[in-house]
Amino acid sequence: MPWQTPTIDSRPVAVLGAGVLGRRIACSWVAGGYNVTIRDPSAEQRQAAIHYIDNNLAEFSKILDKTTTGPGKYAAFEDLDSAVKNAWFVLEAVPEKLDLKTSTFGILAMKAPKDCIFGSNSSSYKSSLMLDNMDEEAKKRALNVHYTMPPSNRVVELMTSTYTHDEIFPFLVEKHRDIGLLPAVARKESTGFIINRLWAAVKRETLNILAEGVSDPEEIDTLWIEMFGRDKAGPCAMMDAVGLDTVAFIEDHYIQERHLDGTNTVDFLRNNYINEGRLGAKAGNGGFYSPGSTTKSEEGKQDFHDDLATPTLYILDIGLGENITHDFQHAGRILVTSGDGQNARPLITGLEAPDGIDISISDDRIFWTNMGIPSQNNGSVQSARIDGSEIQTVIAKGSVHTPKQISIDHSNKKLYFSDREGLRVHRANFDGSEHEILIETGDFRNTSDKEDQTKWCVGITVDPKNGRFYWTQKGFSKSGKGRILRSNIVMPPGATASTRSDIETVFENLPEPIDLEIDTESKTIYWTDRGEYPLGNTLNRGYVGDQQNGKAYEVLSRHLHEAIGLRLDKVNKQIYFTDMGGTVYRTDADGKNKTAIYNSDSTFTGITLAHLN
Ligand SMILES: *[C@@H]1O[C@H](CO)[C@@H](O)[C@H](O)[C@H]1NC(C)=O
Ligand SMILES: *[C@@H]1O[C@H](CO)[C@@H](O)[C@H](O)[C@H]1NC(C)=O
Ligand SMILES: *[C@@H]1O[C@H](CO)[C@@H](O)[C@H](O)[C@H]1NC(C)=O
Ligand SMILES: *[C@@H]1O[C@H](CO)[C@@H](O)[C@H](O)[C@H]1NC(C)=O
Ligand SMILES: *[C@@H]1O[C@H](CO)[C@@H](O)[C@H](O)[C@H]1NC(C)=O
Ligand SMILES: *[C@@H]1O[C@H](CO)[C@@H](O)[C@H](O)[C@H]1NC(C)=O
Repeated sequence: MPWQTPTIDSRPVAVLGAGVLGRRIACSWVAGGYNVTIRDPSAEQRQAAIHYIDNNLAEFSKILDKTTTGPGKYAAFEDLDSAVKNAWFVLEAVPEKLDLKTSTFGILAMKAPKDCIFGSNSSSYKSSLMLDNMDEEAKKRALNVHYTMPPSNRVVELMTSTYTHDEIFPFLVEKHRDIGLLPAVARKESTGFIINRLWAAVKRETLNILAEGVSDPEEIDTLWIEMFGRDKAGPCAMMDAVGLDTVAFIEDHYIQERHLDGTNTVDFLRNNYINEGRLGAKAGNGGFYSPGSTTKSEEGKQDFHDDLATPTLYILDIGLGENITHDFQHAGRILVTSGDGQNARPLITGLEAPDGIDISISDDRIFWTNMGIPSQNNGSVQSARIDGSEIQTVIAKGSVHTPKQISIDHSNKKLYFSDREGLRVHRANFDGSEHEILIETGDFRNTSDKEDQTKWCVGITVDPKNGRFYWTQKGFSKSGKGRILRSNIVMPPGATASTRSDIETVFENLPEPIDLEIDTESKTIYWTDRGEYPLGNTLNRGYVGDQQNGKAYEVLSRHLHEAIGLRLDKVNKQIYFTDMGGTVYRTDADGKNKTAIYNSDSTFTGITLAHLN
């Protein structure tokens, strides 16, 4: 039967697998004006993929030069039928296991329309190995379609399964050019296509040079960049970005097929890096480079692959900036930006003096506190889906006075939040049930208590591993009477929030501590301080383990303009923090390399982050 070009009309491209590359493939087609369906069994992956497209579509359209096309629509599905039933092109991007790919192709042949083209994104298996469950006619519509990393790397390699209709190639080449990608067709079947073979050789020889002790990663990359490209990363930085475990996994295929010796490649990687948990940029222990290296390329510019380990930031704008309106009580916003401060966009607007924010990707929920008007006792806690829809009240007005920082205990699915003029620390479930008071430093109805700022609870962080939570009591403005305290997650038997005896002061006589977060691994607390210069308006850290060493702490960064929000990026070992002057900063964990990644005429309060790329 001759090949019949599928009619596209309003039919979607279907992408099976919402992982790192699946969501970039989907976003490329959406930017190119095509409708896209995504299928993934994991709800978390589906949400993250849709959120990724929401956040990055404008950037894809710009890079792929598709700003005038107008994007297509996109949706994610749990079941395969809904995703593929009307598709003209299905791309499988499921995990790299041959039996899974073979069964997926078999099911696709039955469920997808009879003119649909089937692409496999496998980099290590030829599509001819996946066709066992397909009938003869469907086999002719299957091929390898391997994307590299759109939008910054636009290469797409197409390769026959040996059965594939010849006419499919010019058709798909045109479609990929149409969306701004750079397609190339391998002239015959070959494990690794064209550029992947070349890249495999570069990686292999790089590993040989390292294993033999001839050079080091930094030098190799410096030389590479001088030789081959000033705006790209060198091979060691790129292997770190891809993941050293993935590099080894791919090389295993070549070793098998070509009977290569793996001593200086996969064995070297496994013995020196992978077995020690040094998997590259993604895992928090670094690889050839230390953690965070890929988020700080020149001028904060993200190179291709680098954004894989960069967090997405959620920043609260309290609404007292340049564009202050008569209705400043409802001018608060949640902004979303990439980790380099690019592509900021408002996610939710109209908030009543928002102050603290945190996020649970697995529950598809973002939580924030609204101070309301502090004198009116009308603060609240709200939540929404991570795309900003379905706003719900978690803690109603009147049940919390002036809520400030909020922190999630992810292992027990609890919200902790401090209540400034309410003189309390609260805890509740994600839906607001089981609302408890954990700490009560005074009676907020009593004016002399309420005006005593040494009783004001502001920052909060939870350490479920060691069964504790920490909070700040800031003291009068710039008075040097601030404290950081801690208590047990489990209330002592018979005690109440105002009588419990398990409260410890961890640091005292601080200028004016505000938000805080614990790094449980290093038993270190990080906090912002809004007090007087030079010790105030700083970023600080102090050890809170057993040998607390005279309660000394370190000032990591100075000269902020009313410092407030703070979050640790534990993957990249970096700190993000905000000030009310409208700047978001990033530093290394030791406070070095301070960069203002986002500046605006707004007034920022809380910040949180998620690794979504
Ligand atoms: C996308 O789907 C909508 C219906 O949801 C349809 O109206 C539109 O034509 C489709 N667009 C494309 C480019 O297929
Ligand atoms: C597509 O190919 C890449 C590179 O081989 C692989 O890492 C990825 O898991 C595949 N699928 C998806 C959904 O990204
Ligand atoms: C708080 O109270 C003030 C004054 O009553 C009112 O204008 C404002 O809308 C209230 N805000 C909230 C969050 O209820
Ligand atoms: C208010 O609190 C202060 C100090 O905690 C106490 O001395 C005073 O009696 C209280 N006033 C009332 C009206 O309860
Ligand atoms: C800062 O970052 C650079 C690389 O961007 C790194 O080489 C250096 O060690 C970091 N620390 C300091 C103190 O400069
Ligand atoms: C203020 O409004 C102007 C005009 O709408 C806009 O360009 C600017 O970005 C706004 N500034 C802030 C901080 O939102």
